[in-house]
Amino acid sequence: MICIAESAAAPEGAPDTARPPVALRGFRPSDVTGIAGIVAEALREHYDPSLYESLGAPWPAGFLVAAGPDGAPVGFLLGVHQREGEGRVLMFAVDRRFRRQGIGELLMRAFLDRCVQRGLYRATLEVRVSNATAIRFYTRFRYSVADLLRGYYTDGEDGYQMVRELRPLPPTSAARPMGGAGRES
Ligand SMILES: CC(C)(COP(=O)(O)OP(=O)(O)OC[C@H]1O[C@@H](n2cnc3c(N)ncnc32)[C@H](O)[C@@H]1OP(=O)(O)O)[C@@H](O)C(=O)NCCC(=O)NCCS
Repeated sequence: MICIAESAAAPEGAPDTARPPVALRGFRPSDVTGIAGIVAEALREHYDPSLYESLGAPWPAGFLVAAGPDGAPVGFLLGVHQREGEGRVLMFAVDRRFRRQGIGELLMRAFLDRCVQRGLYRATLEVRVSNATAIRFYTRFRYSVADLLRGYYTDGEDGYQMVRELRPLPPTSAARPMGGAGRES
């Protein structure tokens, strides 16, 4: 599974200064239709509806939904914990009509908090090299490019793997520091 993003060339719409009333909550099965609509528009992908529930099941706290006033999703972040110590953003998108209002920030902050609460020391994601909007967003959250993934996307576009360290790595028994912490976060 990959975090497929639209091209940065797509219009984003005018910035809106009023933050809409959104509630952050966990994923519910009734969110599937709304999330699938956001995925189709923002990520141009069409997944089997059962995929969302199955991907979110192992770590429900990593599947975050921003719900609008009517309770329907206006954005979401599906994060998974597949590798030891690592949280990975699989899908992340905000409904076009609700972008540039801080909802993406709300979701990413909550996801990073959940990673720390779970004791993870790294967050990772993949992004199209053309998706300047998302890359700028991630850079603001202190993700940095760790690798170039050639031909990563099904249409042949390259991706970047981006990584953010979350806290010092636990010392290994082979190289335990004398009294200091491990790597800087
Ligand atoms: C990437 C994405 C999820 C960000 O969501 P968002 O809700 O727009 O994010 P935010 O509003 O928190 O921040 C976006 C920008 O708006 C700015 N902003 C936030 N509130 C604002 C406001 N009230 N007025 C003006 N600008 C505002 C932020 O500073 C940020 O600036 P930046 O472009 O320098 O990063 C969204 O652009 C998206 O869904 N893109 C398509 C899907 C995609 O590419 N997903 C990533 C796949 S890897």
